[in-house]
Amino acid sequence: MKLGIIGTGALGSAIARDLVKAGYELVLSNSRGPDSLEDVALDLGPLAKPGTVRDAAAADVVFLAVRWNQVKSALTGLPPWGGRIVVDATNPVAAPAGRTSSEIVASLVPGARLVKAFNTLPPPLLLADPLKGEGHRVLFLSGDDHAARETVAQLIESIGFAPIDLGTLIEGGKLQQDPGGPLPRLDLVKFSKSR
Ligand SMILES: NC(=O)c1ccc[n+]([C@@H]2O[C@H](COP(=O)([O-])OP(=O)(O)OC[C@H]3O[C@@H](n4cnc5c(N)ncnc54)[C@H](OP(=O)(O)O)[C@@H]3O)[C@@H](O)[C@H]2O)c1
Repeated sequence: MKLGIIGTGALGSAIARDLVKAGYELVLSNSRGPDSLEDVALDLGPLAKPGTVRDAAAADVVFLAVRWNQVKSALTGLPPWGGRIVVDATNPVAAPAGRTSSEIVASLVPGARLVKAFNTLPPPLLLADPLKGEGHRVLFLSGDDHAARETVAQLIESIGFAPIDLGTLIEGGKLQQDPGGPLPRLDLVKFSKSR
């Protein structure tokens, strides 16, 4: 499975580090282009390669980790998504009226299967050992495609976290949304990884 990151800043590079640690190959991207990511890629090791946003968006699972006001420009002009998975790790500046933020992001990636995840913990907690005592640190996910949720849940397990599947974007996305939902910034531990 090839992975891509759109937005390799504080959050995106923390996600990238967890993923390469677990042995995934990934393409890093930002707004300034591959040359600006050479040092980050060097630091992450040979599994992480700098690329363009288009390169990152061609992966099987694409993590979106840009600021809310950058979402639209980051996703504009990309080829059709063809059912690939977009993991929305973004948070809006203010809770949008009427729709969850991930429903808005989903409307910008037509044809992709969107899963909201990795948005509730700050980078230092994503980088810390997910094993806490007998338990595993929790990462929530939600999305409207069951198989895509399962893929992301397995990915979360493979990097050592305990996934908690909250269901659809309307239901789970609301719980995960920051600001507005009750789950962001809760550092929870699950005492079994079984689902
Ligand atoms: N940091 C946290 O504690 C945290 C926790 C949970 C969720 N989040 C969410 O994660 C998202 C990113 O936050 P962050 O703190 O990581 O921000 P950040 O450090 O500013 O990183 C943003 C990244 O997005 C890239 N970017 C900007 N415009 C782009 C475009 N048009 N195309 C491709 N890449 C683009 C930037 O690249 P350039 O530098 O080249 O412009 C940078 O690599 C936000 O939505 C935030 O709410 C953050």
